[in-house]
Amino acid sequence: MSNPPSRRSQVDSFIAMDIMAAAATAERAGRDIAHLEVGQPGTPAPAKAREAAIAALKSGEPLGYTEALGNRALRERIARMYAEVHGLSVPAERIVVTTGSSAGFLLAFLSVMEAGDRLALADPGYPSYRNILRSIDIAPVSLPATLADGYQPTPAQLAEARGEGPIKALLVASPANPTGTMLSREQMQALIDDCNQHDTTLISDEIYDRLTYGIRPTSALALSDTAIVINSFSKFHCMTGWRIGWMVVPEVLIRTVERLAQNHFICPPHVSQVAALAAMDCEAELSGHLETYLANRALLLEALPGLGFKDFAPADGAFYLYGDVSDLTTDSAGFARRMLDEAGVAAVPGIDFDPARGAQTMRFSFAGSRETVEKAVERLDRWLGSRGLS
Ligand SMILES: Cc1ncc(COP(=O)(O)O)c(C=O)c1O
Repeated sequence: MSNPPSRRSQVDSFIAMDIMAAAATAERAGRDIAHLEVGQPGTPAPAKAREAAIAALKSGEPLGYTEALGNRALRERIARMYAEVHGLSVPAERIVVTTGSSAGFLLAFLSVMEAGDRLALADPGYPSYRNILRSIDIAPVSLPATLADGYQPTPAQLAEARGEGPIKALLVASPANPTGTMLSREQMQALIDDCNQHDTTLISDEIYDRLTYGIRPTSALALSDTAIVINSFSKFHCMTGWRIGWMVVPEVLIRTVERLAQNHFICPPHVSQVAALAAMDCEAELSGHLETYLANRALLLEALPGLGFKDFAPADGAFYLYGDVSDLTTDSAGFARRMLDEAGVAAVPGIDFDPARGAQTMRFSFAGSRETVEKAVERLDRWLGSRGLS
């Protein structure tokens, strides 16, 4: 007799990935799908990164395990980037290269939290945070964020959550997914002060920090030596499938995280580390993509309100629009399914990001090409028009 799956393995699915899989099935059946579901650039890793990977593969070098914390050259280059881009001095020793930021979350949670501890985070938020937490028996404590607060958590919400027990860590994202909203320096400072007063570890997801449209992001590293910062090559560097990211950990955690990384992952993918190092010298090519995202955002913001989508969060960064669809549906999951089946447009229902309140919201990614976004708008117009909704 085989055992049933464990209790803690029974996490929710990551609906954006389920939709991506459904879209891929439709494509295999010959359909054309406009992809506004997954947050990944439509452009490949920069040319020099791909060339570096090809050269490494052709060299005949074994590309074996690297140090668990990552290649020293890459860690030093990331440290230099903090100085050049953010004006921050971060020693290379504190940088840990990870298998995408996803591995960084696991390492962060395991390194500072016990089973049964509570971690606070804003809803709506990136779904895997709470699903990773549940799978390792840490309780996500939802802080219901509002449009008025820019969908970011506040010290007042933290105080309320502490009424039900200590909060061991707070997870923030700026810019955030699904909303694209950002924490101002003052907001970040207030949350850091609050965390310091209550022995709460701040974990700051900064994977969209190079994708901002006018507002300068504040890294938690500028204001705290004890925060854990998570970042990735997936978004700005267009390297989602290479599975490569990094974290910056406080000095006291370096060896702890190293031991966890050695045992969980051995090391991040070697060839991806080679490509990532080269990608860090491709500023002009990568920054150029921001113009596409900006144009896509403008196109969606112009077209979607006329189709019944409204109250979009101010997408000051990242490449998502998160808005209200209550004029069109009270069941965002069913609506997203029909949108895919009937209109050939893939987007993500709000319940992925906010299980309690997301039945009337949707997220649209504008990370793809201009053509993709134009095609999606045309199809939505036709689809909603034919349903008598626009
Ligand atoms: C806010 C946020 N954090 C983390 C991730 C995971 O990224 P990675 O590819 O680095 O694992 C994503 C992916 O969409 C994200 O949106």
